[in-house]
Amino acid sequence: MPQEQSFASFTEDLEIKQMHELGKGLVTKSLLYHLADGEQSLGVGFGDGQQRLMMGEDPRLPAMPDKPTLMDFFKLRFAPAQQHLLQSANLAQQNGEDEKIVLACLLHDIAVAGFIRSDHGYWGAQLVEPYVDEEVSWAIRAHQSMRFFPDESVGYEYPQAYVTMFGKDYELEPYIVAEYERSRVHKWYMTARKICVNDLYSFDPDIVIEIEQFEDLLGRHFKQPSEGLGNDNTPSSHMWRTLRRPCNAL
Ligand SMILES: [Fe+2]
Ligand SMILES: [Fe+2]
Repeated sequence: MPQEQSFASFTEDLEIKQMHELGKGLVTKSLLYHLADGEQSLGVGFGDGQQRLMMGEDPRLPAMPDKPTLMDFFKLRFAPAQQHLLQSANLAQQNGEDEKIVLACLLHDIAVAGFIRSDHGYWGAQLVEPYVDEEVSWAIRAHQSMRFFPDESVGYEYPQAYVTMFGKDYELEPYIVAEYERSRVHKWYMTARKICVNDLYSFDPDIVIEIEQFEDLLGRHFKQPSEGLGNDNTPSSHMWRTLRRPCNAL
Protein backbone atom coordinates (compact mmCIF):
# COMPACT_ATOMS: atom_id res chain seq x y z
CA MET A 1 0.00 0.00 0.00
CA PRO A 2 1.51 3.39 -0.95
CA GLN A 3 2.32 5.34 2.20
CA GLU A 4 0.28 8.42 1.35
CA GLN A 5 -2.84 6.38 0.57
CA SER A 6 -5.43 5.84 3.33
CA PHE A 7 -6.48 2.30 4.16
CA ALA A 8 -10.07 3.10 3.13
CA SER A 9 -9.11 4.29 -0.34
CA PHE A 10 -6.63 1.43 -0.70
CA THR A 11 -9.33 -1.18 -0.03
CA GLU A 12 -11.73 0.69 -2.32
CA ASP A 13 -9.16 0.59 -5.15
CA LEU A 14 -8.60 -3.09 -4.46
CA GLU A 15 -12.33 -3.79 -4.60
CA ILE A 16 -12.62 -1.96 -7.91
CA LYS A 17 -9.66 -3.91 -9.31
CA GLN A 18 -11.20 -7.18 -8.17
CA MET A 19 -14.54 -6.26 -9.69
CA HIS A 20 -12.89 -5.58 -13.02
CA GLU A 21 -11.15 -8.94 -12.83
CA LEU A 22 -14.52 -10.54 -12.13
CA GLY A 23 -15.93 -8.75 -15.16
CA LYS A 24 -18.67 -7.11 -13.17
CA GLY A 25 -17.79 -3.49 -13.81
CA LEU A 26 -17.42 -0.52 -11.54
CA VAL A 27 -19.06 -0.58 -8.11
CA THR A 28 -21.15 2.46 -7.31
CA LYS A 29 -22.38 3.26 -3.82
CA SER A 30 -25.49 5.10 -2.75
CA LEU A 31 -25.24 8.55 -1.21
CA LEU A 32 -26.17 7.04 2.14
CA TYR A 33 -22.87 5.11 2.39
CA HIS A 34 -20.96 8.34 1.77
CA LEU A 35 -23.11 10.42 4.13
CA ALA A 36 -22.26 7.84 6.81
CA ASP A 37 -18.63 8.88 6.34
CA GLY A 38 -19.56 12.55 6.58
CA GLU A 39 -19.34 13.11 2.84
CA GLN A 40 -21.90 14.41 0.36
CA SER A 41 -20.71 12.48 -2.63
CA LEU A 42 -21.64 9.77 -5.07
CA GLY A 43 -18.06 8.49 -5.16
CA VAL A 44 -17.29 7.27 -8.65
CA GLY A 45 -20.63 8.70 -9.72
CA PHE A 46 -21.70 7.30 -13.06
CA GLY A 47 -18.26 6.22 -14.24
CA ASP A 48 -16.30 7.69 -17.12
CA GLY A 49 -18.57 6.60 -19.91
CA GLN A 50 -16.15 3.81 -20.79
CA GLN A 51 -16.48 1.34 -17.99
CA ARG A 52 -19.53 -0.73 -17.27
CA LEU A 53 -21.17 -0.21 -13.92
CA MET A 54 -22.02 -3.20 -11.81
CA MET A 55 -25.64 -4.29 -12.09
CA GLY A 56 -27.06 -7.57 -10.90
CA GLU A 57 -25.61 -10.08 -8.47
CA ASP A 58 -22.61 -8.84 -6.49
CA PRO A 59 -19.82 -11.46 -6.60
CA ARG A 60 -18.30 -10.10 -3.37
CA LEU A 61 -21.35 -11.24 -1.40
CA PRO A 62 -22.62 -14.78 -0.80
CA ALA A 63 -24.75 -15.97 -3.72
CA MET A 64 -28.45 -16.10 -2.98
CA PRO A 65 -30.95 -18.62 -4.33
CA ASP A 66 -33.29 -17.49 -7.10
CA LYS A 67 -36.24 -17.44 -4.73
CA PRO A 68 -34.83 -16.31 -1.42
CA THR A 69 -36.64 -16.87 1.84
CA LEU A 70 -36.38 -14.91 5.06
CA MET A 71 -34.05 -17.60 6.39
CA ASP A 72 -31.81 -17.11 3.35
CA PHE A 73 -31.51 -13.43 4.19
CA PHE A 74 -30.60 -14.29 7.78
CA LYS A 75 -27.89 -16.66 6.59
CA LEU A 76 -26.54 -14.87 3.54
CA ARG A 77 -26.95 -11.17 4.25
CA PHE A 78 -27.58 -10.25 7.87
CA ALA A 79 -24.71 -9.34 10.19
CA PRO A 80 -23.56 -11.58 13.06
CA ALA A 81 -25.50 -9.10 15.24
CA GLN A 82 -28.56 -11.15 14.22
CA GLN A 83 -27.64 -13.29 17.25
CA HIS A 84 -29.41 -10.63 19.32
CA LEU A 85 -32.64 -11.28 17.40
CA LEU A 86 -32.29 -15.04 17.77
CA GLN A 87 -31.53 -14.79 21.48
CA SER A 88 -34.44 -12.46 22.02
CA ALA A 89 -36.87 -14.83 20.29
CA ASN A 90 -35.39 -17.75 22.19
CA LEU A 91 -35.94 -15.91 25.46
CA ALA A 92 -39.54 -15.13 24.53
CA GLN A 93 -40.07 -18.83 23.83
CA GLN A 94 -38.57 -19.77 27.18
CA ASN A 95 -40.82 -17.21 28.86
CA GLY A 96 -43.80 -19.01 27.34
CA GLU A 97 -44.88 -16.14 25.10
CA ASP A 98 -47.23 -16.90 22.26
CA GLU A 99 -45.87 -17.28 18.75
CA LYS A 100 -46.85 -13.80 17.65
CA ILE A 101 -44.63 -12.32 20.37
CA VAL A 102 -41.79 -14.73 19.54
CA LEU A 103 -41.97 -13.63 15.90
CA ALA A 104 -42.01 -9.95 16.90
CA CYS A 105 -38.89 -10.54 18.99
CA LEU A 106 -37.21 -12.43 16.15
CA LEU A 107 -37.78 -9.52 13.78
CA HIS A 108 -37.67 -6.50 16.09
CA ASP A 109 -34.15 -5.31 15.12
CA ILE A 110 -34.13 -6.76 11.62
CA ALA A 111 -33.24 -3.31 10.33
CA VAL A 112 -30.12 -3.09 12.52
CA ALA A 113 -28.92 -6.61 11.69
CA GLY A 114 -30.02 -6.29 8.08
CA PHE A 115 -29.40 -2.84 6.68
CA ILE A 116 -29.85 0.36 8.66
CA ARG A 117 -29.61 1.51 12.27
CA SER A 118 -31.12 4.98 12.20
CA ASP A 119 -34.88 4.79 12.93
CA HIS A 120 -34.53 1.02 12.88
CA GLY A 121 -37.98 0.29 14.29
CA TYR A 122 -39.65 2.11 11.41
CA TRP A 123 -37.48 0.60 8.68
CA GLY A 124 -37.80 -2.89 10.14
CA ALA A 125 -41.57 -2.66 10.42
CA GLN A 126 -41.86 -1.45 6.85
CA LEU A 127 -39.65 -4.26 5.57
CA VAL A 128 -41.75 -7.05 7.07
CA GLU A 129 -45.18 -5.41 7.04
CA PRO A 130 -46.57 -7.26 3.99
CA TYR A 131 -45.59 -10.64 5.44
CA VAL A 132 -46.65 -10.58 9.08
CA ASP A 133 -49.72 -9.93 11.17
CA GLU A 134 -50.39 -6.20 11.56
CA GLU A 135 -49.89 -6.47 15.32
CA VAL A 136 -46.34 -7.74 14.79
CA SER A 137 -45.23 -4.93 12.50
CA TRP A 138 -46.95 -2.35 14.73
CA ALA A 139 -45.00 -3.66 17.72
CA ILE A 140 -41.69 -3.62 15.82
CA ARG A 141 -42.26 0.03 14.93
CA ALA A 142 -43.33 0.96 18.47
CA HIS A 143 -40.51 -0.80 20.32
CA GLN A 144 -38.01 1.80 19.16
CA SER A 145 -39.58 4.56 21.24
CA MET A 146 -40.88 2.29 24.00
CA ARG A 147 -37.39 1.03 24.82
CA PHE A 148 -36.63 4.44 26.34
CA PHE A 149 -39.55 4.36 28.77
CA PRO A 150 -39.80 2.16 31.87
CA ASP A 151 -42.86 0.12 32.80
CA GLU A 152 -42.80 -1.10 36.39
CA SER A 153 -45.79 -3.37 35.81
CA VAL A 154 -43.57 -5.74 33.85
CA GLY A 155 -40.30 -4.92 35.63
CA TYR A 156 -38.86 -2.99 32.70
CA GLU A 157 -36.41 -0.25 33.62
CA TYR A 158 -34.60 2.32 31.49
CA PRO A 159 -31.75 0.26 29.96
CA GLN A 160 -28.38 0.72 31.61
CA ALA A 161 -26.92 0.06 28.16
CA TYR A 162 -28.53 3.29 26.91
CA VAL A 163 -26.86 5.25 29.71
CA THR A 164 -23.55 3.79 28.55
CA MET A 165 -24.20 4.27 24.84
CA PHE A 166 -25.89 7.68 24.83
CA GLY A 167 -24.85 9.24 28.15
CA LYS A 168 -26.80 10.17 31.26
CA ASP A 169 -27.82 13.51 29.82
CA TYR A 170 -29.22 12.15 26.54
CA GLU A 171 -32.47 13.85 25.64
CA LEU A 172 -35.08 12.11 23.54
CA GLU A 173 -36.15 13.56 20.23
CA PRO A 174 -39.71 14.92 20.29
CA TYR A 175 -40.91 12.38 17.71
CA ILE A 176 -39.82 9.52 19.99
CA VAL A 177 -41.76 10.98 22.91
CA ALA A 178 -44.81 11.53 20.69
CA GLU A 179 -44.60 7.97 19.35
CA TYR A 180 -44.47 6.60 22.89
CA GLU A 181 -47.46 8.72 23.96
CA ARG A 182 -49.47 7.28 21.08
CA SER A 183 -48.26 3.75 21.74
CA ARG A 184 -48.97 3.67 25.47
CA VAL A 185 -52.72 4.00 24.90
CA HIS A 186 -52.79 1.61 21.94
CA LYS A 187 -54.52 -1.77 22.14
CA TRP A 188 -51.27 -3.53 21.20
CA TYR A 189 -49.12 -1.68 23.75
CA MET A 190 -48.20 -4.86 25.60
CA THR A 191 -47.02 -6.61 22.42
CA ALA A 192 -44.37 -3.95 21.89
CA ARG A 193 -43.63 -3.88 25.60
CA LYS A 194 -42.90 -7.60 25.55
CA ILE A 195 -40.34 -7.00 22.82
CA CYS A 196 -38.63 -4.59 25.23
CA VAL A 197 -38.73 -7.12 28.07
CA ASN A 198 -37.15 -9.88 25.97
CA ASP A 199 -34.74 -7.40 24.38
CA LEU A 200 -32.86 -6.54 27.57
CA TYR A 201 -31.21 -9.89 28.24
CA SER A 202 -30.42 -10.96 24.71
CA PHE A 203 -26.84 -9.83 24.24
CA ASP A 204 -25.04 -12.90 25.63
CA PRO A 205 -21.78 -13.57 23.71
CA ASP A 206 -21.72 -17.15 25.02
CA ILE A 207 -25.08 -18.20 23.57
CA VAL A 208 -25.50 -19.21 19.94
CA ILE A 209 -29.04 -19.74 18.64
CA GLU A 210 -29.64 -20.99 15.10
CA ILE A 211 -32.36 -19.57 12.87
CA GLU A 212 -33.53 -23.16 12.20
CA GLN A 213 -35.03 -23.15 15.70
CA PHE A 214 -37.72 -20.86 14.31
CA GLU A 215 -38.25 -22.50 10.93
CA ASP A 216 -41.63 -24.00 11.82
CA LEU A 217 -42.81 -20.82 13.50
CA LEU A 218 -41.87 -18.80 10.41
CA GLY A 219 -43.74 -21.33 8.30
CA ARG A 220 -46.86 -20.63 10.33
CA HIS A 221 -46.58 -16.86 10.74
CA PHE A 222 -44.36 -15.35 8.04
CA LYS A 223 -46.09 -15.18 4.66
CA GLN A 224 -43.13 -16.26 2.58
CA PRO A 225 -43.91 -15.42 -1.09
CA SER A 226 -43.53 -18.38 -3.44
CA GLU A 227 -41.65 -16.17 -5.93
CA GLY A 228 -39.03 -15.32 -3.29
CA LEU A 229 -38.60 -12.13 -1.26
CA GLY A 230 -37.90 -9.31 -3.68
CA ASN A 231 -39.38 -11.13 -6.68
CA ASP A 232 -42.90 -10.54 -5.41
CA ASN A 233 -44.88 -7.35 -5.70
CA THR A 234 -45.42 -5.82 -2.28
CA PRO A 235 -44.69 -2.31 -0.93
CA SER A 236 -41.38 -3.62 0.47
CA SER A 237 -40.20 -5.95 -2.33
CA HIS A 238 -37.72 -3.29 -3.49
CA MET A 239 -36.17 -3.23 -0.02
CA TRP A 240 -35.44 -6.96 -0.17
CA ARG A 241 -34.00 -6.54 -3.67
CA THR A 242 -31.73 -3.76 -2.43
CA LEU A 243 -30.55 -5.95 0.43
CA ARG A 244 -29.75 -8.63 -2.08
CA ARG A 245 -27.96 -6.28 -4.48
CA PRO A 246 -27.00 -3.22 -2.44
CA CYS A 247 -24.66 -1.70 -5.02
CA ASN A 248 -26.79 -1.75 -8.13
CA ALA A 249 -26.03 1.52 -9.91
CA LEU A 250 -29.71 2.34 -10.35
FE1 LIG B 1 -34.47 -2.12 18.81
FE1 LIG C 1 -33.12 -5.27 20.39
